[in-house]
Amino acid sequence: MKPKKFFKKFGNTAAAPWSGFANYVSREGELYAALEELYGDTHRPLKPVSIYKDELYSRIQSPQVNSYLETGVNKGESLMIAKDLRLAIGVDPAPIVPPNTFDKAPFRLVKANSDDFFLEALSEDISDIQLDLAFIDGLHVFEYALRDFIGCELLSAPGCEVLVHDVLPRRASEAARHRFTRSWTGDVWRVPMVLRHFRPDLKVRLIESAPTGLAVITGLDASNKELIDRYDEVVAYGLGLSVLDFMSARDDHVAAV
Ligand SMILES: C[S@@+](CC[C@H](N)C(=O)[O-])C[C@H]1O[C@@H](n2cnc3c(N)ncnc32)[C@H](O)[C@@H]1O
Repeated sequence: MKPKKFFKKFGNTAAAPWSGFANYVSREGELYAALEELYGDTHRPLKPVSIYKDELYSRIQSPQVNSYLETGVNKGESLMIAKDLRLAIGVDPAPIVPPNTFDKAPFRLVKANSDDFFLEALSEDISDIQLDLAFIDGLHVFEYALRDFIGCELLSAPGCEVLVHDVLPRRASEAARHRFTRSWTGDVWRVPMVLRHFRPDLKVRLIESAPTGLAVITGLDASNKELIDRYDEVVAYGLGLSVLDFMSARDDHVAAV
């Protein structure tokens, strides 16, 4: 399938609410409460080796990095780190940034969900978008983060690195697909797992960065359409993985290269 057609299928999907968790408990929340009663508290703190913003900062400082894309801007704290680059694109349907903060170059703040952004970017003359670095931190639901990776790879320059935030949840409830906890990783942890399975040509490292881990993906190939062509199979495989199994083997996943 052509990349544009692929993103057209998902464009215009409403972004799930980011905040507002406090006033409701989803059925998934009840399920996790029951699971924790059955299996005990699944809390497994990380042994942090770094902080995610420092990982981002050190890469942005690299002379090889000129252009950067971030999905999920929120208050703009991580996007601001890219202020000295040639191009720093931030995509978020509902950023909470002070007026005029990202109005000028190198920033390009796109108020849209990332599927719509990728559709647009792939439809237009995208010659100026050749990403050296991307940070995926938008909607913390597996399929969304997976498509963010697919879009970033299509726009990648040779040598591009993609970081995916929140891939090491500390407890199963934090990794629910519907947010009901204060700290929420969602099930983004499935993304590195499916990449290791379906794209052995990529290098996928997991880093215990505080607070909730980072995946660092290299070896990208902008012409590779494997994940688009096998998307349904990739999603089915990812959704079939068990969070409890992932949590208990988390150290092995981090150690695997
Ligand atoms: C964790 S925050 C980003 C934090 C920021 N990267 C930082 O480190 O300071 C996640 C953001 O993703 C945004 N978001 C939700 N759905 C999205 C989507 N479909 N595409 C892009 N961003 C999305 C939310 O509006 C929210 O502001």
